[in-house]
Amino acid sequence: MLEALWDRRALLVSGKGGVGKTTLSAALAVAAARSGRSVLLVEMAPDEGGPSALGALVGARDVGPKVTRVRPGLSFVRLAASEGHRRFLQDTLPLRWLAEAALRSRALRRFLEAGPALREMGLLYQMLALLRRTRPDGRFEYPLSIIDLPATGHALAIAALPRTVLALMPGGPIGRSVQEGLDFLQDPARSAVLLTSLPEPLPVSEALALASELERLELPLTAAVLNRMPEDPFTPESHAAVQRLLATHGPHQGARALARLERARAARARLAAGLQVPLLTLPELPVTGPELVERLAEVFTPRELAEPTREAAP
Ligand SMILES: Nc1ncnc2c1ncn2[C@@H]1O[C@H](COP(=O)(O)OP(=O)(O)OP(=O)(O)O)[C@@H](O)[C@H]1O
Ligand SMILES: [Mg+2]
Repeated sequence: MLEALWDRRALLVSGKGGVGKTTLSAALAVAAARSGRSVLLVEMAPDEGGPSALGALVGARDVGPKVTRVRPGLSFVRLAASEGHRRFLQDTLPLRWLAEAALRSRALRRFLEAGPALREMGLLYQMLALLRRTRPDGRFEYPLSIIDLPATGHALAIAALPRTVLALMPGGPIGRSVQEGLDFLQDPARSAVLLTSLPEPLPVSEALALASELERLELPLTAAVLNRMPEDPFTPESHAAVQRLLATHGPHQGARALARLERARAARARLAAGLQVPLLTLPELPVTGPELVERLAEVFTPRELAEPTREAAP
């Protein structure tokens, strides 16, 4: 299932707050770089400044609008909305002085900073510029980008926006540029949206709601990731015995752990049943930060991915 993902130009990691989007984005990027790919890991900064959670996970020292190389095959960039607005206007408004005048206008700046949808437009615009960038030999500079989307509301605004903007200004340079972004995001050959969830009732409900929203926006939901699945310490055979033991011994910490496991299983089953895409399960691990990222990356680095595929010997 994962092999097919790496052929996309952009992997968009979506999900509700706190489900592990940033961790997963970093782990995917590390895995892709390990398997010999050239990856650009993209953080969409809601505001300028502040520490970069994603940058810290991959050890990026420089966090800003300039792409920096973090390790072989892995580059990192943090995109800020306001920078995107500036470039967007400069590139789309026909005359430079017009763009500059527009940027100097307080009214326009306020307009650009209003509403998450317009913020997303600035981000989307910069992302597209990076995706388009080519090397002297004509190949893409960043063949694969992994994008840590801001929590649900904003992430959806990215896709909802183009229609709004297109309706306002079809045909013009701004409309055309936004249309290009929309075409890219909606093309399942180039983009893949990953939906992240936790194995609990509410996150699963939220993930299912997000899945229908993605469908409505015609975004290519390609796979779901159930993150932080608790480990099952028992073999299937010992389960019944443990249950019997717990039944006769009253409240016990083991009973709580088992109940949590049962809830997680039920949540996973509900998520799998509600989606038409493959569901990948990631374990809950007792580590955090870069160490967690490295361990999860191993899940995405099966041998066939790490080594170029070879024809079977005759
Ligand atoms: N598989 C895992 N095992 C253990 N802890 C995890 C796992 N995945 C994520 N975490 C922890 O869960 C917390 C939230 O993760 P993360 O910041 O990646 O979520 P997020 O979806 O990006 O959150 P936000 O919506 O706030 O950006 C972090 O403390 C992270 O270390
Ligand atoms: Mg995050």
